Amino acid sequence: MPTNEGANSATGGATDGATMRAVMHERYGGPEVLSVGRTPMPVPRPGEVLVRVQAVALNPADKFLMRGEPTLVRLAMGLARPSRRHRVRGHDFSGTVAALGAGVTRFAVGDAVFGSSDGALAEYVRAKVGVLAHRPASLSVEHAAALPMAGLAALHGLRDAAHVQAGDHVLVNGAAGGIGTFAIQIAKSLGAEVTAVCSTRNVELVRGLGADHVIDYTLGPLTRSDRRYDVILDNVGNHGLGELLALLTPAGRLLTNSGEAGPDGGAIARILKAQGRALLGRQRVRSYLSTPNAVDLALLAEMAVDGRIAPVIDDVFAFERAADAMAYLATRRARGKVVVAVAGS
Ligand SMILES: NC(=O)c1ccc[n+]([C@@H]2O[C@H](COP(=O)([O-])OP(=O)(O)OC[C@H]3O[C@@H](n4cnc5c(N)ncnc54)[C@H](OP(=O)(O)O)[C@@H]3O)[C@@H](O)[C@H]2O)c1
Repeated sequence: MPTNEGANSATGGATDGATMRAVMHERYGGPEVLSVGRTPMPVPRPGEVLVRVQAVALNPADKFLMRGEPTLVRLAMGLARPSRRHRVRGHDFSGTVAALGAGVTRFAVGDAVFGSSDGALAEYVRAKVGVLAHRPASLSVEHAAALPMAGLAALHGLRDAAHVQAGDHVLVNGAAGGIGTFAIQIAKSLGAEVTAVCSTRNVELVRGLGADHVIDYTLGPLTRSDRRYDVILDNVGNHGLGELLALLTPAGRLLTNSGEAGPDGGAIARILKAQGRALLGRQRVRSYLSTPNAVDLALLAEMAVDGRIAPVIDDVFAFERAADAMAYLATRRARGKVVVAVAGS
């Protein structure tokens, strides 16, 4: 296993010589390429803060970047291997502010925060204030870390891309995963009727999150449904676009939201096909890219505090077992979020 000793800061800041522990990889591949090593401490730039990380929630994006997939990402990360700036994985974190970059007034040292920044699977990460929010005291560090990518993807898909209205019937494929568990709850909070698609072992979970109807896909494919939906959020990508479009009402909206390969090819092929189909007819298919912002992070925290959403945590892994956490995420069987505990490890 590589030690990663002497690699540069994952986040690219200048350092004063201090180092920290981080989960890193020197080549692309499966979870076996990850190991705990030492790397220089990041230093916050103007408009950024340095965060002492307490918990990190994993996302499929972490898996794709670890593998260097799709190949296009290697143009930014390094063609043959991840460049020194891109060796630390992890994105969604919670922790406490350890230092302020120039011009930062919204946060103070010691504040409890959560947010999004590459290289979060480390003792410290630097983050722009625009992708950072305060963590309310009643929200645990694990629950706060679970919110950013999955919660925002559900919110941005349902609220902004599909414009879900009260009374809409929303189908969530992949309802038991990181995004799906938030999507059920956010759709319900928008006043929708929700059908969740999952395997048998997750039927009670999704009912408990508020799903009005459940399709257990082990008993028959969702494409056999005789209902018609105003919105379909597809987190899985296991059905062709045509099959899903056939399940929509005439004015229905299909959100293709899977990075995995499926009948329509890989994620990029699916996006191109979706955009092509969007030009046709009244049924609308959209792919969308959720980008983090502080206002919506604060909204998710407020929703978690007042009970409109409850983050689902499948398991919490110790920092040294981050590779096992990634291997578990890669099975695509996680129920809600997979979290890595960082501080104190
Ligand atoms: N648009 C964006 O900006 C954006 C942002 C983030 C992520 N994404 C994409 O969204 C996708 C989902 O992310 P995620 O975090 O929710 O993934 P995840 O947590 O890894 O999803 C795991 C879940 O998928 C379910 N699943 C697997 N096969 C299924 C099937 N055939 N039918 C129904 N459910 C199935 C599993 O439930 P069962 O065990 O019950 O099958 C499991 O609970 C990823 O491909 C990711 O790349 C998009």
